[in-house]
Amino acid sequence: MKLDRLVASHQSLGRQAAHRAIAAGRVRVDALVVTDGHHPVDRFMRVEVDAEVIQSPERALYLMLHKPVGILSATKDDQHPTVIDLIDAPDKHTLHIAGRLDRSTSGLVLLTNDGRWSKRIMAAEHKVPKVYLVETAEPIAMEAVAEFARGFYFHTEDITTLPAELVILDERRARLTLHEGRYHQVKRMFHRVNNRVTGLHRESIGPFCLPDDLKSGAWRFLDPQIAWAAVTSGDSLLLKSSSFRE
Ligand code: URA
Repeated sequence: MKLDRLVASHQSLGRQAAHRAIAAGRVRVDALVVTDGHHPVDRFMRVEVDAEVIQSPERALYLMLHKPVGILSATKDDQHPTVIDLIDAPDKHTLHIAGRLDRSTSGLVLLTNDGRWSKRIMAAEHKVPKVYLVETAEPIAMEAVAEFARGFYFHTEDITTLPAELVILDERRARLTLHEGRYHQVKRMFHRVNNRVTGLHRESIGPFCLPDDLKSGAWRFLDPQIAWAAVTSGDSLLLKSSSFRE
């Protein structure tokens, strides 16, 4: 939302009066005077007109979670435990998931109540890389590397998958980097090379890597500034303890 709309809706001030108040320097966003009515504001910002707070900021939440096999990537389910059930923060019901995993897949899941952040991570045009460790039923053929790089045509969606990097680690284990996230994508890709995924684990999403000390079923808050800096700079994030918020 733009600042002028928010200010205008306050006590039905009206657009004209809102513009005058903003131009006169009477409006502060997060303690700073803003004189541009088009300044974007969201629900995580504190907005004041003169000394009156017209919007108190909501707490923005950014979490990484180590999903165990058997837990559903959903916010609610009648039959299975969900990732939300693993979290013990009071405002956990405001969270949504930035990129689901199958129930049989383990690894990194990001959660937030900030739609702009999750959109940034999930937006197709940003091609955020997701790295998976894959175990297969059959030996992985060397030719699969070139086939994954070429892409597979998926009839259901009428798309060809983006070039993916497959690194064979041993006979039945590989590391796969995808730059998109389609339904059951890893499993479907391995099916196309006459193989079957028996174990799947997500190690990272863009700059966010699952830390070694984040045990299966555990989660952590990310520092909001670091969470945003990581997605906007694209730099790999070394998640030292200072990156987390208690
Ligand atoms: N691809 C899959 O097949 N499953 C997942 O959970 C993630 C990617």
